[in-house]
Amino acid sequence: MSLNKKLILGCAQSDDNYGLSRNKKFEEVLQNAIKSGLNFLDTSPYYRNSSSIIKKINSKKNINIISKLKFDYDLKSNFEKRIRNDINDILSANNTKVLYGLLIHDSLLPLNSKKWKIVFKVLNEYKEKKIIKKIGISVYNTFELDNILKIFTPEIIQFPLNVFYQSFANKELLKKLKRQKIELHARSIFLQGSLLKNFKSLSPQLKIWRSEFLKWSEFLSDNKINALKASLVFALNNELIDKFVIGLDNKKQFEAVKNEFIKIQKNKKLLNNLNFNKLNSDNIILTDPRYWYSINNKEKLNYKKWIDLREKVLNGGMLLSKRPDQFLPAGWPTFYRKASGCHIWDINNKKYLDFSLMGVGTNILGYSNKSINNHVIKNINNGSISTLNSGLDKLLAEKLIKIHPWSKMATFSRTGAEANAIAIRIARIFSQKDEIAICGYHGWHDWYLSSNLSNKKNLDEIHLSGLSTIGIPKKLKGLTHPFRYNDIKGFKKLLRKNPNIGTVFMEVERNEKPKNNFLKQIRNITKRKKIVLIFDECTSGFRETNGGLHKKYKIYPDIAVFGKSIGNGIPITAVIGKKEIMIKARKSFISSTFWTDATGPAAALSTLKEMERIKSWKKITKIGRRIKMKWLKLSKKYKIKIKIQGIDALPSFSFDSNLNLYFKTFITQEMLKKKILATNSVYCCIQHEKYLNIYFEELEKIFSQIKKISDGKSIAYYLRFPVSQPGFSRLN
Ligand SMILES: Cc1ncc(COP(=O)(O)O)c(C=O)c1O
Repeated sequence: MSLNKKLILGCAQSDDNYGLSRNKKFEEVLQNAIKSGLNFLDTSPYYRNSSSIIKKINSKKNINIISKLKFDYDLKSNFEKRIRNDINDILSANNTKVLYGLLIHDSLLPLNSKKWKIVFKVLNEYKEKKIIKKIGISVYNTFELDNILKIFTPEIIQFPLNVFYQSFANKELLKKLKRQKIELHARSIFLQGSLLKNFKSLSPQLKIWRSEFLKWSEFLSDNKINALKASLVFALNNELIDKFVIGLDNKKQFEAVKNEFIKIQKNKKLLNNLNFNKLNSDNIILTDPRYWYSINNKEKLNYKKWIDLREKVLNGGMLLSKRPDQFLPAGWPTFYRKASGCHIWDINNKKYLDFSLMGVGTNILGYSNKSINNHVIKNINNGSISTLNSGLDKLLAEKLIKIHPWSKMATFSRTGAEANAIAIRIARIFSQKDEIAICGYHGWHDWYLSSNLSNKKNLDEIHLSGLSTIGIPKKLKGLTHPFRYNDIKGFKKLLRKNPNIGTVFMEVERNEKPKNNFLKQIRNITKRKKIVLIFDECTSGFRETNGGLHKKYKIYPDIAVFGKSIGNGIPITAVIGKKEIMIKARKSFISSTFWTDATGPAAALSTLKEMERIKSWKKITKIGRRIKMKWLKLSKKYKIKIKIQGIDALPSFSFDSNLNLYFKTFITQEMLKKKILATNSVYCCIQHEKYLNIYFEELEKIFSQIKKISDGKSIAYYLRFPVSQPGFSRLN
């Protein structure tokens, strides 16, 4: 591997404002690089002075130029002509007739289908004329790349790679890209020079990330290696990467890189002796220099609290849906001090209106409801648990049975997933069959996640994509089978193929409404085949009816499970069922200490009473309908296509665009400025009614901005924070 084959000289250093060093001698570096035989340059019209320096040299040398463009103009402003002008300007500014590569410098551009169509057409014309050899793209992370690959196959991909950001060191990924004949260029080997600096001399923006830089300096001293060498060794270790873009401040640095490069070639052993894994960081603010300056230090410190939490608490918390990265990395307030009604005060005492998840659906009556609190506090004062049993369990069972007369027995637990595990045990005992058909989300337990053992995408369509099966015993494979909502044919086929299915476990409705008597057909088939039908009402219960959503459809299961909302924020979940089924589990060991505390049933009894008194399901359904109507109105008014889903009290929408997640992030970012926690779904609570107009007013402003953004500058330009993370696969 020779220097000129593997290295590309990055020209960003021609710009005084780039990187951390203010004393750069780019022309000197360029002269030396060319003298040493290096003939690939990575430049861009956005790097000040770069083309004028290259131009001087290029008249005499045969240099391969890779340049970048954002195509960041308004669609209405003679878009196509401006693309051509910009490309022609690059050619003349660099004194060349041919570009080795033209990279799209806005990884979101291909996601804007209107613009992309035009850009792609023009670029291909230049390619056919052999003016551009390769059309490529520059990305910041693997998420951006995944999206792009769904749209087109670039001929060059340029990506960051350094000891802190190792996602592109993944051999499987690199192999996959090579199979598609993509030329791979890695950049940011020194993370804009920060990896080569002494911690003390780093700017305050970077000093916040003390622990990462400390780990790095410890790594260097433990391995008795200098930063330049270690950074290079890490990068060059990836033999599948074709070229490395190296930006250097002066001749001395260039010579040092050259010498290290030659030494590393001679001593390949070094490549294998260093273990860089522990330096890999999931701090997306540190590893993406776009955010070093766009995010202020207060916001960085907020994000640091989250990073620090992840060091002590597994995954930073026990519920995926509360991870701040799912809303607005570094911008989301993350920690609360107090919550009341539909307001939350963060740890800095800033008060927000919660138009987002409302405790992930736990508080239909609003946070910290006084009458429920008082009942619970009374029970705490009387001893929330004792050696003897609480009499409240019987009262709660009677109440739930009264609401659901088809059921005759109940049992209680404290989380939805464990209630579902109880339900499964009971159903298996009754049916004497191990296998289960599922449709929906039913919790984190082995029995549910095992569905992905036979096909890792099994749960993608019925719940979240990318749910891992690590830690799930392989022996569970084949016990849990997914089927799709409203696909009665698929359901029948599944039962035919798997005669050992004894339980059907499903949500009554989540995003789609039942079509063609889907629920009735399921009920009829399960009855005929003596299969236990369980409705998981953990999320749907008490949102549209006083009880399970199944009451609305008049389809009655054999067992129903309730969670989330029945204690208005105090942990309590319930399994109710037909007597002949429930009673079979008498000999089974289903037992747990904290299932017997009094606070849960006390909270549930007063919550059910209050919900019944004010008919909360009607109120939140009305609120949700108004929200859905407003979304629809905004979508029509601003001609932004959206898809609205969910039961009325739990509405959600998505933009019918490849940029969906970016627009969603934009909503959260803009709403936070108005002290509203918002995303693209609302768990309605009765308190929302009086604040709907505030929410609508602010949302309208955002929709009007989105309309402008769709045709104008890239959304990337308006996002100060990283895009919200899409799902589980990206969060680990
Ligand atoms: C339908 C359904 N079942 C089960 C669960 C799991 O409940 P928990 O998170 O309390 O374990 C949820 C949670 O979102 C759910 O929506």
